[in-house]
Amino acid sequence: MVSQFNVPATIISGGGASQDVGRQLLRLGATRVLLVTDAFMIASGVAEKVTAELERSGLPFAVFGGVQPDPTDADVREGLAALRRLQGDAIVALGGGSPIDAAKAIAVLAKNPEPLSLYQGYHKVPLAGVPVVAIPTTAGTGSEVTKVAVITDTARDVKMMMLDRHFLPTVALIDFELTLSMPPALTAHVGVDTLTHGIEAYVSSKATALTDPLALTCIRLVAEHLETAWREPSNRAAREGMMLAATLGGMAFANSSVALVHGMSRPIGAVFHVPHGLSNAVLLPAVTRFSLSGAKERYATVAKTMRLCSSDLGTEPACEALVTGLVELNRRLNVPRLGECRGVERARFDSVVAKMAEDALASGSPQNNPVVPAADQVIELYRQAF
Ligand SMILES: [Fe+2]
Repeated sequence: MVSQFNVPATIISGGGASQDVGRQLLRLGATRVLLVTDAFMIASGVAEKVTAELERSGLPFAVFGGVQPDPTDADVREGLAALRRLQGDAIVALGGGSPIDAAKAIAVLAKNPEPLSLYQGYHKVPLAGVPVVAIPTTAGTGSEVTKVAVITDTARDVKMMMLDRHFLPTVALIDFELTLSMPPALTAHVGVDTLTHGIEAYVSSKATALTDPLALTCIRLVAEHLETAWREPSNRAAREGMMLAATLGGMAFANSSVALVHGMSRPIGAVFHVPHGLSNAVLLPAVTRFSLSGAKERYATVAKTMRLCSSDLGTEPACEALVTGLVELNRRLNVPRLGECRGVERARFDSVVAKMAEDALASGSPQNNPVVPAADQVIELYRQAF
């Protein structure tokens, strides 16, 4: 199998790394910069820390703070207009996966024709966009190091998955200090999303020798640090461990692939607006149970890496220990069931579940799963998670 491996040209990590933003932009030759972020980053004062650094650098800049959770093509068009008004030639992306994905799409559209839907799928972007310096504030999506952007196409109500090396940020500033104020529920949801990245990258049919060590280290770090970060938000070692896990998981899945959990998760987000991390977390145990038979050895290794069983346990019982461990982890972190998530109603679920299964399969991700499901099996998995 021939595979391609891309990561940002520069990754700077450690407490305070985000303060390097001005210097990195100047190094890239930026002259006018758009900061792309969301209302929460502005209200919480995190955006101000970054704009203070931009002021220090002397670079003219503008702020586009209008990215919504589950960003849409409309958000991207608005951000692109802001970039054009500024005549900007670089973007700083600040926040969770939503502002970073939106920023990556704005950067691509700055140098490529619209509409954004032209780039849905794999390797469809002709030209490099403007450079993006990405600063993640949640230890979760890994978007700062991936060549993937997920943007909702409002006309079709579909979360478009776009993968191309031109979506890759040029610089990632990985600063765990920005996650110290993350609330426990968000910590749990994006943390299980990170775990899902590690597991899916490792069991994917596209896993390679380059992605396996990244995926396994991601999994180990989540097992070691997630519950401490959730219980003790200001625990620096736990926050740093989760931030590194998110970065490693992002590097792994972007160069291997995600699989059935993410494929099924996107329609939940598109229809019910359940946040990405949460929609993955509610699916992970059931989808793992369904997928075991296609990659038993690998799932057993995941269980052992998470220390859910002894290292000499046989493959079958180790797989069982993994499913039990994932169910228990969700329970301890208070992850709800799908039917308990805000906005998810039984009647609407029943009426859209077949379309959700269709959209999940159409996204391409389930085809990388150890067991590739048929539509009726996807529907059954949604029902199990409900
Ligand atoms: Fe994810």
